[in-house]
Amino acid sequence: MQLSQNPITKIINDKLKFKDCKNLSNLIFDQQRIAEFQFEFQSLKVDITRQNLDKEIKDDLINLAKKANIKSKIKRMMSGAKINRSENRSVDHFNLRKKERFETKEWKNLINFTKIILNKKSFKSIVNVGIGGSDLGPLMVNQALKSFYKGPKVFYISNIDPITLIEVFEKCDPKTTLFIITSKSFGTLETLENAKIIYNWLTENNVSLNDAMVAVTSSEKKAKKWGFKKSNIFQISENIGGRFSLWSSVGMSILCGLGEDNYKKFLNGAEIMDQHFANEEIESNIPIILSLLRIWNRNFLKLNNHCIVPYTDSLSKLPAWAQQLEMESNGKSVDVEGQPLQMPASPIIWGEVGTNAQHSFFQFLHQGLETSPVDILVPRKPIKDAKFSHIVNNHKHLVINAVAQAEALAIGSVDLANANKNFPGNRPSTIISWDENNPFSIGMLISLYENITIASGFLWNINSFDQWGVELGKSTANKISNDEGYEELSPSAREFLQKQV
Ligand code: F6P
Repeated sequence: MQLSQNPITKIINDKLKFKDCKNLSNLIFDQQRIAEFQFEFQSLKVDITRQNLDKEIKDDLINLAKKANIKSKIKRMMSGAKINRSENRSVDHFNLRKKERFETKEWKNLINFTKIILNKKSFKSIVNVGIGGSDLGPLMVNQALKSFYKGPKVFYISNIDPITLIEVFEKCDPKTTLFIITSKSFGTLETLENAKIIYNWLTENNVSLNDAMVAVTSSEKKAKKWGFKKSNIFQISENIGGRFSLWSSVGMSILCGLGEDNYKKFLNGAEIMDQHFANEEIESNIPIILSLLRIWNRNFLKLNNHCIVPYTDSLSKLPAWAQQLEMESNGKSVDVEGQPLQMPASPIIWGEVGTNAQHSFFQFLHQGLETSPVDILVPRKPIKDAKFSHIVNNHKHLVINAVAQAEALAIGSVDLANANKNFPGNRPSTIISWDENNPFSIGMLISLYENITIASGFLWNINSFDQWGVELGKSTANKISNDEGYEELSPSAREFLQKQV
């Protein structure tokens, strides 16, 4: 059942004809709202008091989720049903955060290999080479948990732009660098082109492929053909989607950085959130509530974008990661049956770290004609750092600014005399906070976003696990690279390519 066919959709739309949905600056002063619009789980606090809806609509949305059978959809997915119908695959990344994984051959291989790397101390640098889901997740976690990293230095190469490669070659010694070539398909142009250049660089420096390169992939066959020996190939199941793959051997660079104990805490944070997602009643199920707000803002208030602002430099990569997660998962226009969607799915996801964003696009957020709902993310406490304890105190300014912006967006400030200084307010935001950045809390936060994405997909009744939309552009570029298909291009493209390439 699409959102348009959900009986509650009509009920809400009918109410919206009469309801004032620009009443946020009044709503938030209702003391009762704290009990009904704030949620806690573990160290996580989620405050939706600044969303433009009252209790009646919130209850309607909960009914909408019930009518969409969201709980049984979650159960089906977690029981291993092949819900990714267009690829005939199940959705298995949840299993990677369960303790049972530690008994599997996949885990033992991975852990043995990383122990060798960390104990031998012969590798001083590790470079992950991958793009999209084979890059963004590990890169984000590397940034988020840097203070917990004890292993070798970790670098990431994703784009086909040679600039990053040159930088890595300048910083790393070919004799002490391990390159992890991460590609689920082992067919991604960018990754394989970069791998070729790295191979040549190693050869020029008398280092052999299997001494300095390993592959992480679903296609052992292609990796072997490329030259990798079996023991240097780490498998990912076909049933782990690229954007959900940081928990698999795609996260080898995270494991090398964090070490086994902290990595397990990271997995545990994600698992605890999965259990909450699977078992908690809809009324207090945080990922479901936040997915209902995606739908509320996107489909009922018709706000086509969603901004994510983490108030910690540690999460500066989270907006880019969440952008792939939500937009590749839910940027669809047909439902699971292949029928055209009557109401749009994924909003545009964008964002930047705070407070930096306050000195940039917050002008648009406060006074632009369009409204963007904002997720404001903030760890409540600074990281522990004995050496710099006098500096970490400054963290309080992040917390203060996070709350100040949420208040200013919601309440605004009327200036009838000077329109330039008028702040209309009524701009929705959610504050998501947790105790401090550590492997457990970051694992929980990442799993929260994954589960919001999945729950939203269930409400729209789309397949959040395929990504056919990325194929056309790839195949066009491949044809051009092979000097084919010029006749299918526009005159302008032909002219540009003839002059440039
Ligand atoms: O082009 C999009 C995409 O297919 C993503 O879904 C994926 O995460 C990324 O490319 C990388 O793919 P691979 O891991 O197969 O190299």
